[in-house]
Amino acid sequence: MSLYDFDGATVIITGASGGFGSELTKQLIRRFNCRVIGIGRTKEKMEALAESLGKRKIFFKYYTFDVTDKNSWQRLKATFEKKGERPDMLINNAGIMPPFRKFEDESSDTAKQVMATNFMAAVYSCEALLPLLLQSYRGAIVNISSSAAFSPIAGTAIYSASKGALKNFTQALIEELDGRMFVSLVCPGVSETGLFRDMDLNKDDLETMSGFGTDKADMAKAIIEGLMLRKKLILAGKDSKLMTAISNAAPAHANSLYTKVMKGAHLHIFGEL
Ligand SMILES: NC(=O)c1ccc[n+]([C@@H]2O[C@H](COP(=O)([O-])OP(=O)(O)OC[C@H]3O[C@@H](n4cnc5c(N)ncnc54)[C@H](OP(=O)(O)O)[C@@H]3O)[C@@H](O)[C@H]2O)c1
Repeated sequence: MSLYDFDGATVIITGASGGFGSELTKQLIRRFNCRVIGIGRTKEKMEALAESLGKRKIFFKYYTFDVTDKNSWQRLKATFEKKGERPDMLINNAGIMPPFRKFEDESSDTAKQVMATNFMAAVYSCEALLPLLLQSYRGAIVNISSSAAFSPIAGTAIYSASKGALKNFTQALIEELDGRMFVSLVCPGVSETGLFRDMDLNKDDLETMSGFGTDKADMAKAIIEGLMLRKKLILAGKDSKLMTAISNAAPAHANSLYTKVMKGAHLHIFGEL
């Protein structure tokens, strides 16, 4: 099978303003002269990313809207049609994670917001843009889920559920669009990004994270390498590979093993689990 041809491709990336999204944007522009269309809510963050690209900022444009708003996706589609814009790849990357907390200390309002951002936004973007993506010879959809989709650890009931929904949605799309479009499910492991901004990480948390986590630039590189190889499932990061292997090999025992490890680590980030 031939490699995915990134050269000069037009790639839409949600959540381009932070973490993996901005790393993917930089690497796709620097390595392949991709035209990246970023989606995010914060103009200042998008402008900062554009500036960081130097002369190459001409390869980057952005739209600011909330990905949970279905109408904004329909408006983007109408804008693309009017301008004759033909995207090649859609990367649904924007996501949020509430602090680690038992579900009994959480609320269904949080679940609604997390599901809207981590799952429904991908449904809206695919609904709006699939017809345009299908017109490209290299049309592709890439959904950034998480290792949590395979390994729902204690304290992440809502986040894991949203990532599990995105995983199953994507895996069904892979089958439905087989032969017509490349669809990939990406499950990264831990990486220190803005995702943990509400968690008040302390020194121990950060040390542990850098011990078994993956640098965000390396994560983006691994994702791009997997996409070039047209992998339908990309487990990015050694923790994602290990935890998914354990969860697949021993599904009845893996989650209680992770809970024991987390409790044993006495890390501040896991709170009172
Ligand atoms: N970091 C990890 O350890 C890890 C592990 C596994 C999976 N993931 C997944 O990887 C993806 C990227 O996360 P990250 O770690 O790069 O987090 P991040 O640094 O917080 O970046 C997420 C980006 O999404 C954007 N965003 C959030 N909600 C949005 C909304 N409603 N509408 C539009 N944009 C929105 C944010 O930009 P604005 O605030 O400007 O809108 C932000 O730039 C997420 O789906 C996350 O679940 C991360």
